[in-house]
Amino acid sequence: MVIKLGGSAITQKDTPYTPNLDVIDRIAQEFSSSWGGMRVLLVHGGGSYGHHAAIKYIDGSGKLRSPSGIAETRHAMHRLTSLLADSFLDKGVPFFAIDPSACFFEEGGSKPSLEHSIRPVELALSAGLLPSLGGDVILSSQGHGRILSGDTIARILALASSAKLLAFGTDVDGYLEGGKPLGRIGRGKLKEIIAAAKGRSNDVTGGMAGKLGEIDKYLSSGGKRALIFNATRPGAVARLLRGEEIEGTYID
Ligand SMILES: Nc1ncnc2c1ncn2[C@@H]1O[C@H](COP(=O)(O)OP(=O)(O)OP(=O)(O)O)[C@@H](O)[C@H]1O
Ligand SMILES: [Mg+2]
Repeated sequence: MVIKLGGSAITQKDTPYTPNLDVIDRIAQEFSSSWGGMRVLLVHGGGSYGHHAAIKYIDGSGKLRSPSGIAETRHAMHRLTSLLADSFLDKGVPFFAIDPSACFFEEGGSKPSLEHSIRPVELALSAGLLPSLGGDVILSSQGHGRILSGDTIARILALASSAKLLAFGTDVDGYLEGGKPLGRIGRGKLKEIIAAAKGRSNDVTGGMAGKLGEIDKYLSSGGKRALIFNATRPGAVARLLRGEEIEGTYID
């Protein structure tokens, strides 16, 4: 299973550099209670760390050209990753941060393509660790940086590992329509829903619309099932880890 902890859940997205430590601690505790022998990959979003830094530097084509902007964004994500590591390790979960900027890169000229080596992730799993990757700024052979969202990383890892579920934890109870979460979205309806979904103004990866776009790519590339759930609700992650169905929007 791949679980992405959204920046909307683990940080206060509208206040720069502000974590939701209570949510982080509770999720770490839930991992700790179910830990042992399970094959889970963790991904986390940028929240008020990555998005806040990147938005100052990103240009209209999604590039970060300023070296200090690239470095500052990288460091903002390190700070958030470090808070997660503190909490998980404190509760006995072998959280092992892997920097996407060291595994993923953009290669090519007019049509750049995303290249990656996820061998470190596989080796971490084999070593009994909880591999964790945060959204990041990755480097291009053209000399700039580009944001690689936690949602995209989660999609790539879920496909590479034939995950049974790709679960996106957010601060909302699922994909909301008229204020209520939809229980299920069939893949045939996804394009129509994406057109209606909105991003957030302080978000560099497209908010809910970007997430649904990743889910669309995931399912059309052979992915099995995705979920959008509320990771701030106590017990949600614990039940997911036990393999239970939980409240949220399942997309298949
Ligand atoms: N129809 C919708 N249903 C649910 N949430 C929606 C909808 N439209 C917009 N949103 C917004 O999308 C947000 C979730 O996307 P967002 O990218 O902000 O969170 P995230 O992916 O958890 O954070 P990060 O990108 O930092 O990891 C919700 O908090 C909500 O404000
Ligand atoms: Mg997002």
